[in-house]
Amino acid sequence: MATLRTPVCDLLGCDVPVVLAGMGGVARADLVAAVSAAGGFGFLGMVRESAERIHGEIAAVREATTREFGVNLIPAATDPDLLMSELAAVIVERVAAVTLFWDLRPEVVRRLREAGCLVLCQVGSVREGQEAQAAGAHIAIAQGIEAGGHVRGLTPLAELVPAMVARLGIPILAAGGIVNGAGLAAALGWGAQGVVIGTGFLATRESFAHDYHKRRILEAKPGETVHTEVFHVNWPRGAAVRVLPNSVTQGERGDAFADERVVIGEEAGRPIHLFSTDSPLRNMTGDFEAMALYAGEGAGLIKTLPSAAERLDIIVGEATKILGIPSVARAQDEDEKRVPEFRSPACALPYAGDVYMGFASQDELLAGLNELLEAERAGARITLQSARDAGDGPFADLFRAIQRDEARWCALLHGHVKALGGNPSPMMGAFYGKAMAIGDLRERVAYVNRGQGWVVRKLRDLLPRVRDDRLHGDLGEMLRSHEANISLANMVETPKHEN
Ligand SMILES: Cc1cc2nc3c(=O)[nH]c(=O)nc-3n(C[C@H](O)[C@H](O)[C@H](O)COP(=O)(O)O)c2cc1C
Repeated sequence: MATLRTPVCDLLGCDVPVVLAGMGGVARADLVAAVSAAGGFGFLGMVRESAERIHGEIAAVREATTREFGVNLIPAATDPDLLMSELAAVIVERVAAVTLFWDLRPEVVRRLREAGCLVLCQVGSVREGQEAQAAGAHIAIAQGIEAGGHVRGLTPLAELVPAMVARLGIPILAAGGIVNGAGLAAALGWGAQGVVIGTGFLATRESFAHDYHKRRILEAKPGETVHTEVFHVNWPRGAAVRVLPNSVTQGERGDAFADERVVIGEEAGRPIHLFSTDSPLRNMTGDFEAMALYAGEGAGLIKTLPSAAERLDIIVGEATKILGIPSVARAQDEDEKRVPEFRSPACALPYAGDVYMGFASQDELLAGLNELLEAERAGARITLQSARDAGDGPFADLFRAIQRDEARWCALLHGHVKALGGNPSPMMGAFYGKAMAIGDLRERVAYVNRGQGWVVRKLRDLLPRVRDDRLHGDLGEMLRSHEANISLANMVETPKHEN
């Protein structure tokens, strides 16, 4: 695990801020499980899939890994009745997160939020991002024009991400053309909290794309992709896609908008039409050359077909190196003094007189905040997984409520450590392993409550020694929230008996 962790990792429950795009047809259980198990976060691409298939794919991911993952849906490209059954399926399965794309449906966002789902909206402009935030999205994905598949906006990622970071108050993930560590490092530099990768993960062994599609990506040259509206069957009119050039984009297959439908392939008895948005999948037969060969602008940089975990490791390793961040493994192995120091002496100046006045020194503050961050991260992860373990049982809502709070405190502590010129700890409190070893959920609630009690004591000790008003205010709020959650858990854990 590398120290690329950002607050969005705590929200999603992953180790590194690399998200697999929910590519329709391509991102199925094998790929999603591989990415999530390797420390990233996978989304099942379930556009227009039946509730039955959604249940089946979710079960297959859960069979393969205990890590969290999400589901991608596209309301605009889905028949309304089917969309309702898809939503019911993800809600009943209590999936951790859902990504929505194309047009914004505030009622869908609201419904998923109310069901305790984390909602991500992929958008192509600042205005769409603001609308998604207003509708209640927890995270916005900025999709640049470089992206493979359907492309919502016309703005390059390097322009869109900083603009969205400046204008929105929710975490931003960057999508479009990112296939390596340089892309991840750049996105983090623009202020994104992580990246969403489609094409890079399509070109892995676990993806459900047909080998023809994978081969074409490996053969792609830089600058070769095409932005076109020619693949339109199954989608609202005027939706642009980015694909590799083929006989269709070169105009050799006739008029894309003629009424006649020509069948060029088949997927388990379903006809695949010329100009449709279907891309070649493993279980298809037909004229693959004429299908939509989705690819982002990064395709020209992809030269290998590794496993998804290897792709993730390469990207994270490269970014870690570029950003000069030590890996946890190294930091643990080496003498602590050799871990690079990211602070400059100027960072310490505002705190120079504090020790004399009885306030915590900057180093004490950083150590205390990082200790709390590790504990909150453990709390966020425990409650995320426990909410799922709880199913429909009495503890599910409690775990979910605490999880949202813990993730929020992680983000806040992360921000304060950075503001103090420190390096947010990437570690997970040992509490995590101990709590998850407890099978009985009532006992786990009691154990989590003891952990919350530990945080309360830490905060009570630290608060009187914090001089900065903003930090003091935030830690005070964190203390009150923990006290409230302890009372809530006590009520749920020991229900009152009738006399
Ligand atoms: C093959 C393929 C299928 C895609 N299908 C979907 C989809 O079903 N839903 C969605 O929200 N985005 C979809 N996308 C777009 C991704 O969400 C994301 O914006 C894009 O992959 C990022 O660009 P990149 O491919 O260059 O990494 C797809 C992309 C590709 C390459």
